[in-house]
Amino acid sequence: TFYVKDCPNKLMVNLYIQKDNSEIVHAFEIPSKELGDKIVYCHCWKSKNFSFCDGSHTKHEETGDNMEPLIVNKKET
Ligand code: FES
Repeated sequence: TFYVKDCPNKLMVNLYIQKDNSEIVHAFEIPSKELGDKIVYCHCWKSKNFSFCDGSHTKHEETGDNMEPLIVNKKET
């Protein structure tokens, strides 16, 4: 089960990935004229606007979860 230690009513999303980091954020650049300046994708599966991040991941901080969004930045070519 994925319950948070000492918080039996809360579930943790990330059980295995980069648990040594306090936060996980991945960012990279894609050359494309179709992108805006950046796109922020949800990594935590809690966004009400999935697949885009709506900031819902911040609620996980109280559980000790470290999932943050995937940020894709536009790369000028
Ligand atoms: Fe899921 Fe931001 S809402 S990463």
